[in-house]
Amino acid sequence: MKIAVLKERRADERRVAATPDTVKKFVGLGVEVTVETGAGDAAHISDDDFVQAGAPIAADAAAALAATDVVLKVRRPIMADENGADELAQMHSGQVLIAMLNPLIRRSDCDAYAAAGVDAYAMELMPRISRAQSMDVLSSQANLAGYKSVLDATEEFGRALPMMMTAAGTIAPAKIFVMGAGVAGLQAIATARRLGAVVSATDVRPVAKEQVESLGASFVMVEDEESAQAETEAGYAREMSEEYKQKQAALIAETIAKQDIVICTALIPGRAAPVLVDEAMVAAMKPGSVIVDLAVENGGNCALSQMGKVIDADGVKIIGHANFPARLAVDASNLYARNLFNFLSPHIDGESGDLSFDFEDETVSGVCLTKGGAVIHPMLSAKE
Ligand code: NAI
Repeated sequence: MKIAVLKERRADERRVAATPDTVKKFVGLGVEVTVETGAGDAAHISDDDFVQAGAPIAADAAAALAATDVVLKVRRPIMADENGADELAQMHSGQVLIAMLNPLIRRSDCDAYAAAGVDAYAMELMPRISRAQSMDVLSSQANLAGYKSVLDATEEFGRALPMMMTAAGTIAPAKIFVMGAGVAGLQAIATARRLGAVVSATDVRPVAKEQVESLGASFVMVEDEESAQAETEAGYAREMSEEYKQKQAALIAETIAKQDIVICTALIPGRAAPVLVDEAMVAAMKPGSVIVDLAVENGGNCALSQMGKVIDADGVKIIGHANFPARLAVDASNLYARNLFNFLSPHIDGESGDLSFDFEDETVSGVCLTKGGAVIHPMLSAKE
C-alpha cells in the first residue's frame, strides 16, 4: 500500500496528518509513505525529518498523489465551489481519503467524493466506544482547543487569574464560566483551575455535573424532564426545545453578569451551535471581561462572535479565532497523526503492507462515507 500525506492548503491550517513517528510505524508495517514538500513546516516538522523517518518527499500534491492508494489529510479537500485549487479534482478514482470531512454539514461533498470514485472516511464520525478512544479525533483536538482557549483568554484579560496576597494588597481570583462541559469544556475547566481561577460550568447533559465537580468547579444547569433526556445514545447533546432554551437563557443571564471570562464550547453534531450568549448578556458583563467562542466555526455560542476575529463589544473582548487546535499545531498534529495510525493499522497486513478494511468493524463502517462510487453512510442516506 502507498500512502500520501498532503500539505494542508486552508489558510488557518497548521497541522499535518502524519509525523515522523507515525511514518516510521507505517513503514515498519511495510507501507510506503510519500509526503508532499512543506507538509510539516507549520508544525515544525521539516522535509528532512520525514525523510529520516523513511518517507520520500514529493515536489507537489500531484506527484504525491500519483500511484497512491490512501490519502491522509487533516481537513476536507478544498472543493470546486470554494476559493483555492480544487483538491478533490487532483485525486483519482479508487483512492481512499481519510480526513476530518465534516460530512453532516458538507453533505454535497459526499456526492462529489462518490462521483469521483473516491472512498472517503470522515474521522469525526468515529463511534464513541472504548476501543475507539485512541482513534477519536474530536476528543484529541477538542482537548487541546479547551486548554488553548483559557490561555487565549488570559492574553486579552487585563488581570491575573489566581488570588494573590501581596504586601501591596490582595488580588481577587478571576471568575471563569465554561459553557458546555464536554471534552473541550472539561479541559478548559481543568486549565482554569490550575491557573487559580474560580470556575463554574454548565451543560444540558446532567451526567456532566459529576465530571465538572470532580475538577473542582461548580455546576449550574436547568434540570427538568427534558434535560434528563438531553444525551443521545452516542453521548452527544440534543437540540433543546424553545421552552428549555428560555429557562436556560434566564439562568445564563444571571450567571454571566458576574463572570470575568466565559469560555463557550457547546456543540450539537450536524447542526448549528446553540446561541447561548445574546447581545444583552454581553452588555451586562463588566468592561474588561473576555468571551472565548470555541463554537464560532459552527455559528458560535455568542451572538456577537466573528470567525477569525477578536472584537471589542463596549469593553468586552470576544475571541473568535478560527481553528483553535491548529494554534497548538505540534501537539495537535502528533495526536491527530496517531489517531489516524491507530485507525488504519489494524487493517494493514503486517507482511504485505496491504490495506483491507474490515467492514464488520464499526470503527470502519462508522466512518466510511462513500465506497465504490456510492454514498453508503446511514446518517447521510437518512438526510436525503
Ligand atoms: P460536543 O463537542 O458535541 O459538545 C460539547 C459540549 O456542549 C457537550 O458536553 C454538550 O453536552 C454541550 N452542549 C450542547 N448543547 C448545549 C447547550 N444548549 N447548553 C449547554 N451545553 C450544551 O461534545 P464532546 O465534547 O465531543 O463529547 C460529549 C461527551 O461525549 C463527553 O463529555 C464524554 O462524556 C463523551 N465522550 C465519550 C468518549 C468515548 O466513550 N470514547 C470519547 C469522547 C467523549
